[in-house]
Formats: sequence, structure tokens, C-alpha cells
Amino acid sequence: MTQNVTLIIDGKEVTAEQGKTILDAALENGKDIPTICYHDATTANGLCRMCVVDVEGMRVQQPSCVVLAAEGMKVKTRGEKVDRSRRTILEMLASTMDLSDAPEILTMMDEYGADAERFPDAERRESDVIDDNPMYIRDYSKCLTCWRCVQVCAEDAQYTYAINFAGRGYETQIGTFFDKSIPETTCVLCGQCVAVCPTGALKSRREYLLEQGMSADEISVLNTGRKKRKPR
Ligand code: SF4
Ligand code: FES
Repeated sequence: MTQNVTLIIDGKEVTAEQGKTILDAALENGKDIPTICYHDATTANGLCRMCVVDVEGMRVQQPSCVVLAAEGMKVKTRGEKVDRSRRTILEMLASTMDLSDAPEILTMMDEYGADAERFPDAERRESDVIDDNPMYIRDYSKCLTCWRCVQVCAEDAQYTYAINFAGRGYETQIGTFFDKSIPETTCVLCGQCVAVCPTGALKSRREYLLEQGMSADEISVLNTGRKKRKPR
């Protein structure tokens, strides 16, 4: 038999099935919490910390996409501290990567009053656009390493394992094993990684080339040998 837990979210008593996260409990009860790395179709890893909430009695803020709702918990989804944390996360992202193709994150920046110039000395993630297959381009200057694409390519959906993490620490980025081109990997061009990418780092090749000003006819005769493109 399914068991429920009762908790308080922003002063309102709610119930949630045992095993659900705070985020699940909030969403099921009409309370929105912003997320970036979380996606319904992928396993949550608590990487971005955008979904943090205050939980009474806990010293540090909790990532609601991975922490389970528990009996008697008292959760605050907004407030000065939580808002400040989210604003800082957004400001760090804006300082280090290209968010121009991430409309949901840009909306969050407005909502939290984030200043994109707050960390002017931050090292930006720069990368050429990799155009090496007929289906999608990769622009890692727009990648926030949320891991969604890696997971959907692996156990969360496709079991293909064509992409993974490469590098360490700040240098960590998404790539292929041994930096092979996509056609040299196990990729089957299913497009699921493109579908879950929140930032446009992975994008339909056709859409990208149209945005670059190419006509449909020009695109149809292009070959797809590995190229690193500078955006026009
Ligand atoms: S390419 Fe997109 S989905 Fe993959 S880690 Fe980067 S931002 Fe996330
Ligand atoms: S959405 Fe929860 S940590 Fe990223």
C-alpha cells in the first residue's frame, strides 16, 4: 500500500507519496520551484542547485529535486536567502557561458533580478561550434554541464553511451570518448539529447544553419565532414 507523508510547504500543509522529492511534492500541490539541471525524463543529480529551498532545522539549503519529502518537514521555497542563492547561481552562469539560447534561464534572471555583469572577471567558456553530423551541432560555449544529454544517451533512455563528461574541474565539459566525431561514436542520431538540452548547446543542424542565414537549398547540399564553425 502506498504511504504518504505530510509536510508544510510555504505554510501550507500538503501530502506526498513516500519517496517523492520536495520538488515533486511542491509541483503536485501547485507550487513552482525553478529548476535547470532537472528534467522529467532524466535522473536528477542535484548539479545546478537552482532548486534549493530552506528546510527548518537544516543548516544548509537543500536541492529540492533530489531531497525526499519527509513527515513533518517545514519547507520555504522563497525568501531572502533562497532568492539570493538562486540569483548568485544565475549570475555565475551568465558570467561564464552564453545564455542567448536559454530563454527559460533568461526569464529566471529577470525574475530574480540577476545581474549578468556581476562577475566581470569570470573566465568564459569559449568553444567553436562543432558541425560533424547531419542531425545536430554542438556549441559548448552554451553548455552548463547539466548532464541531461549524457543521461538520456545512457541509462535514462537510449543506452547508446555516445557522449560523456570530458576533462576535470572547471575544464569539465561534455564530449565524446577520445573526442571522436559523432559519426565515429555509437550515436544513432536519435535526437533525444537535443530535445533535453536547456541551452541550445545541442541544436538541430538545420535550425542552426537557417539561423546563420543559409537557405534550405544551401543546407541540403552541404556535406557533413567535421567542421568547427565560427558563428557568422
Ligand atoms: S549539452 Fe545541453 S544537455 Fe548536455 S550538458 Fe550541456 S547544457 Fe546540458
Ligand atoms: S534543478 Fe535541482 S539541482 Fe539542478
